[in-house]
Amino acid sequence: MWLPYVGALMKARIAYASVLVAAGLVVVACASKKPAPKEPTVTETISDAGADVEVEAEPPPPASLFERLGKEEGITQFVDTFIKNLQADTKFNKRLANVKGAKLEKLKKDLVDQICVESGGPEAGAECKYEGRFMREILGAKSKLKEEEWTTMLLDLRTALEEHKIGDNEQQDLASALGKFRDDAVDVKAPKPAKP
Ligand code: HEM
Repeated sequence: MWLPYVGALMKARIAYASVLVAAGLVVVACASKKPAPKEPTVTETISDAGADVEVEAEPPPPASLFERLGKEEGITQFVDTFIKNLQADTKFNKRLANVKGAKLEKLKKDLVDQICVESGGPEAGAECKYEGRFMREILGAKSKLKEEEWTTMLLDLRTALEEHKIGDNEQQDLASALGKFRDDAVDVKAPKPAKP
């Protein structure tokens, strides 16, 4: 009679032990799969007086005057027209009467180099440079320019720039860049001594 009872008891114990083992495994498994502690969440908000501001990429630097004038090619074209305008201008053309052939080409080239340098060509990678006082040497001039000749020259330069569709801003920027040469080029009469 007791054998079936023992058998049943044994079965119950085995089942009980299995439950314990299984529970133990679950505990171990749970312990090893413990989730990583959560990182604190950082929210970055740039605010200006309470309003969110979008940070935009910096705009590219503005093109140099040299680039806006069309680099060496563009400058060479309008200098060519500029000289033609001066040759046709009765208020100026006596100055160019004897400037022909190689001399004329040298004057144009030096003017292109001067404008290239003054408009920021070297900073933009152009290989332009000029030695000052080239006009005196090329032209063999006996006198500096008169004030009216300088003004006429700037007007003829402006006509050339217009003809080559150079914008107003560029025209003004070039005029300011070249304006500093006025005192060297123009015969500025010494002021008369004040009367006693
Ligand atoms: C935008 C264009 C020009 C600029 C910025 C300019 C600038 C100058 C400068 C800095 C000087 C004094 C130093 C030197 O001899 O190189 C000068 C002198 C002179 N330039 Fe120009 N020039 C220009 C165009 C011309 C042109 C097209 C002529 C044509 C004949 C000319 C005729 C003269 C003369 C006669 C002198 C006097 C030279 C002397 O000191 O004896 N310039 N110019």
